[in-house]
Formats: sequence, structure tokens, C-alpha cells
Amino acid sequence: MTTYETIAELRRALEPFRDGSTIALVPTMGALHAGHEELFRAARRECDVVVASVFVNQAQFSEPTDFDAYPRDLGRDERIAASSGVDAVFAPAAEELFPPGFATWIEPSGVAEGLEGEHRPGHFRAVATVCVKLFEIVRPTAAYFGRKDAQQVAVVKQVVRDLNLELEIRAVPTVRDEDGLALSSRNARLSAEERARALAIPRAIATGDVERARAILAEAGIQPEYVALADLDGPTLAVAARVGSTRLIDNILLEGDTR
Ligand code: PAJ
Repeated sequence: MTTYETIAELRRALEPFRDGSTIALVPTMGALHAGHEELFRAARRECDVVVASVFVNQAQFSEPTDFDAYPRDLGRDERIAASSGVDAVFAPAAEELFPPGFATWIEPSGVAEGLEGEHRPGHFRAVATVCVKLFEIVRPTAAYFGRKDAQQVAVVKQVVRDLNLELEIRAVPTVRDEDGLALSSRNARLSAEERARALAIPRAIATGDVERARAILAEAGIQPEYVALADLDGPTLAVAARVGSTRLIDNILLEGDTR
């Protein structure tokens, strides 16, 4: 496995595979865990070449403290990526993707409005922009995203459709810890007490019902930012809530849908 820090180097490395080989892209912000590994493995099964990007995209963070606190350990990420079958890691510096003078943004509306779009203004604009840049740099056959971020999947699919981008978007089911909590790099910030309370979130969405979900969260002393039914690449019950100061999101694809 090789790590590339510049667009030019990565493009040169991918040139021999423009011969009809299939190329997978798995965009990440690093701090890799078993959820990301599942994406890498799906990509490995389905494509000839697997590229993982590791880039903490500052523009998509609403809170500077959240961006500053985001775990960064490229060496660790490289070991995890290599052991999950990734061929190339693209880990550009911020100026490589967003050099001085950068001034063109993708502004998704539609499915990007509401839920995360409402609570994190500018979030999906930044996600869509970095994803389209990565799609254009890697020109993958398919890009892999986690259902954990169901609205993100729906937004990226909408962007690909609306801009006629030539790639497939694959959605991979959410990976959970044994206790049911969806894996997230932010889980590490939870105290033992907060983590125990956070388990109300997977229990709440498992009901598949907004009112029952609200009741379970209330019992655990969790005030959600939203509990909502929405079409997020399929009928979905989605929750966002702070447990202590840690913001968590989770969702479940409702019955009858096999995606
Ligand atoms: P990040 O949070 O690092 O997540 C990278 C990918 O891993 C996303 O598609 C996310 O949905 C998926 N993922 C995270 N936790 C998961 C879990 N428990 N189970 C399954 N998949 C999981 O999402 C981003 O980065 C960024 O917004 C990005 C798309 C890279 C753009 O900057």
C-alpha cells in the first residue's frame, strides 16, 4: 500500500488502471474504525483497485473545537487501511484540496435540507464539494459510503444524479459495537456514564416509531435535536442527540426495505 499526498502523484499512480480496471474510492476523515473497515472490505470485494482518502475536511465542521479535537493519526490509519485491503491512501494537506483562492462550492438543496442540514448549516455544502473534488481526482467506478450517515448517502446520490457524474454510489450497512452503539470516532469522547446513556439511541431507533423513540430518549435524560422519519435513500428513522457534549447521530432503515 502506498500513501499519496498530492493530486498529481495519485493521478499518475492510477493512470495504468484507466484500462478498464474498476477503481473504488472510500472517502474518510481518518480515525479509522471497524465501520470504515467494512467499507474498505466491500470495496475490495467489488473492485480491482481500492483508494481510501483520509482528509479532515475543516469546512464541514460547524464547531472549531470539534475540528480541533478530531483524532489524527495517519500511521495508525495506514496500518488499518492496509490490513483491510486498501491499495492507496490519499492523504492531502488542506492546501492541496483548498488552496488560497479556492472559491467554487457545490450547494445541494432538496434532501440536504432539514435534519443535519438544518442543525449543521453549511455541512452538506462542504461534504458535497469535497466529495465531487475527490470523485474528479480519483475518477472511481464506485464510491463507498456508510448508512450510518444516511442523509449524507442521500445527498451524495442526489449530487451524482444532478451533475451526471459517472460513478456508482454504494451504501454499506451501519457497523455497531456489541452493545448496539453505532461506531463513530466521536464515541471515544463519551465517559462510561455517557456511553451507558447513549445506548438509549440504538434502542430508540429500533422501535421504528417516532413517538416511542422520543419516550425512550426522554427516559434516559436525552434531549434529541431531532427524531424524524424521512426518505434518506429509503424510509428511515433518524436521530441526532447530544450526550454530554458529544453529538451523536444514528438511524434505521425501516422494515420492508432491504437496502
Ligand atoms: P467519516 O466520518 O470518516 O466517515 C467515512 C465513511 O465511513 C462515511 O461514509 C461514513 O458513513 C462511514 N461510517 C462511519 N461510521 C460508520 C459505521 N459505524 N458503520 C458504517 N459506516 C460508517 O463521513 C465522512 O467521514 C465525511 O463526511 C466524508 C464523506 C469523508 C467527506 O469529508
